[in-house]
Amino acid sequence: MEDIIKELEARRLNAKLGGGQKRIDSQHKKGKLTARERISLLLDEDSFEEYDMFVEHDSHEFDMQNQKIPGDGVVIGSGLINGRTVFVYVKDFTVFGGSLSLAHSKKINKIQDMALKNNAPLIGVLDAGGARIQEGIDSLGGYAEVFQRNVLASGVIPQISIIMGPCAGGDVYSPALTDFIFMVKDTSYMFVTGPDVVKTVTNEEVTSEQLGGSEIHTTVSSVADGAYENDLEAMEQIRDLIDFLPSSNINDAPIKKTEDPIDRVEDSLDTLVPDNSNTPYDIKELVLKVIDEGDFFEIQEKFAQNIVTGFGRFNGFTAGIIGNQPLHLAGVLDSDASRKAARFVRFCDAFSIPLVTFVDVPGFLPGTSQEYGGLIKNGAKLLYAYAEATVPKVTIITRKAYGGAYCVMAPKHLRGDINYAWPSAEIAVMGAKGAVEIIYRNDLEDSKKIAEYTEAYEDRFLNPFVAAERGYVDDVIMPHNSRNRIIKALKMLRNKKLSNPWKKHDNLPL
Ligand code: HXC
Repeated sequence: MEDIIKELEARRLNAKLGGGQKRIDSQHKKGKLTARERISLLLDEDSFEEYDMFVEHDSHEFDMQNQKIPGDGVVIGSGLINGRTVFVYVKDFTVFGGSLSLAHSKKINKIQDMALKNNAPLIGVLDAGGARIQEGIDSLGGYAEVFQRNVLASGVIPQISIIMGPCAGGDVYSPALTDFIFMVKDTSYMFVTGPDVVKTVTNEEVTSEQLGGSEIHTTVSSVADGAYENDLEAMEQIRDLIDFLPSSNINDAPIKKTEDPIDRVEDSLDTLVPDNSNTPYDIKELVLKVIDEGDFFEIQEKFAQNIVTGFGRFNGFTAGIIGNQPLHLAGVLDSDASRKAARFVRFCDAFSIPLVTFVDVPGFLPGTSQEYGGLIKNGAKLLYAYAEATVPKVTIITRKAYGGAYCVMAPKHLRGDINYAWPSAEIAVMGAKGAVEIIYRNDLEDSKKIAEYTEAYEDRFLNPFVAAERGYVDDVIMPHNSRNRIIKALKMLRNKKLSNPWKKHDNLPL
C-alpha cells in the first residue's frame, strides 16, 4: 500500500509538471501563467476538483507513442466561484502547445457533459494551437464533438471562453459558439489561420497582433467581448461576471445584498439631458447612477460604442442594461450596434435576466455603406430579439425615440411591460426639420413660414405627452426618481409569465 501511495504521489507530481519546467519557464517569460496557476486564480481557494489527470493520448504516428504526457494538454474539473459551482477546462500550452488530440477532446467532452447535467456554467481557458497535427482526422472529429456539445449547451448553461495565448483553428471555433469571449492584451491571439498561412495564401504580411490580437477583436471584428491587462485581471473579472449570472436557464441569478437605498434620489439626473437636443451626454452616467453601487459589467465596451450593453443590479437582482449612447454617432442605430445589442438581449432572455433599456436614438444610420452592409437585416436582429424576449422589459425614453428606432427599442408595442419617459422625451416619427420639409414642401422658399411650422411641430410632437395620451408610455417620470421607479417596476414583474407560440426553433434574420 505504501508503495502504491508513493507511486500515486509521484504520478500526480509528474502530471502537474505538464510539459516540464523548461516549457513552464518559457510560458512565464511570455507573461502567461500555467494552466494550474490560472485555475487557482479563477476558483475559490482549495475548491478545485480535478478529473482525468492521468489521461494520455493513444497516437502511434510520428513516434508519438514515445511522447506521452499525463493530462494530455488540458486540465479539467469543477470548483467554486464565490461558493457557486462551475466547471472548467483549461488548456495547458506546455503540453504539445495545448493542441487537441482525441483523448484531450474526450476530456473536454466529459466536463461539458458534467456542466450540462449539473446545470452549472462552463468556463474554457484557451491557450492552444488547434488540432494536434500528429493525430490528423481523430483530432478533427474530436473538435466536432466539442462543437456539438457547445451548441447543445447554448442557452441552457452560460458558456464563457477566456483566450490566454495564441489560439488557432478549432481553438477559436469552440469559443465562437459560447456566450462570451474575453482576451488578454498583448499575449492572446485568435485566428482561423495564422500569419504564415495568410502570407502563403493571400500574400498579406500581418503580425499575430494585427491579424487577431485583442485590439482587433474588441474594436473591429467584435469576436471578443472584452480584454484585460493580464491573466490576473482577466480571472478577477470573470469571477465578477459569474456573480451576475444564473447557473443555468432553470436557476435564478444570485441576489447580491446591497446597502444602496432603493429610493435613492439622484438630483443630478434632472439636468443630465442638455437643453439643446443635439448636444450629447453620457448615457453611462445614467446607468451608473441608477444601478446598485455603480457596479456595471460592460459587454463589448469598445465595439459599436453608440450602444451600451452590460449587467448591473437593481436592489440586488441582476438586469441586462441596454442604452443608446448619444456620445457616439449621436446614439444612432447602425448594423454593428444592432447586432451587438441583439446578441446581448437574446443572452438575457435565454437566462431569464430582465431587460432595462434606456432610449435616446435619432433613428437608423442612413447611407450606402449601411444599406450595402445589410442594415435592414441587422436592424431586424435587434427588433427580433426584443420582440421575442419574454423576460420583464422596462424601458425609459430619456430623449429621442424617432421613427423605426422607436419601434425597435423595446416599446410597448413589442410587449414592453413598463415604459416610462422623462419630461425631455421626444417621441415622434422624425425630427421637426425633416417633418416640415416633407409636409410643407411647397413653402420651402418662405423661411418665416417654415420657422413657424417647425416651432409648431416641436410644440406638438417633441414631447412625451402624445405617446402618454395613447398609453404608449405608462408614465412620465422625474429623472431623479428613475432608480426607484425601475426597482418598483422590476419587483412588480418578478413573477411575470409569458411564452411564445410553440416552434421547433425560430428563424432569426442572420
Ligand atoms: C501539435 C503543436 C501544435 C499543433 C503547437 N504545437 N501547435 N503540436 N499540434 N497544432 C507545439 C509545438 O510543436 C511546440 O512544441 C509547442 O507546441 C509550442 O509551439 P510554438 O510554435 O513553439 O509556440 P509559439 O511560437 O508560441 O506559437 C504558437 C502557435 C504555433 C501560433 C499556436 O505553434 C502554431 O501556429 N501552431 C500550429 C497552428 C495550427 O495550424 N493548428 C492546426 C489548425 S487546424 P515543443 O515540443 O517545441 O514545445 C485545426 C482544425 C480544426 O485546428 C478546425 C475546426 C474548425
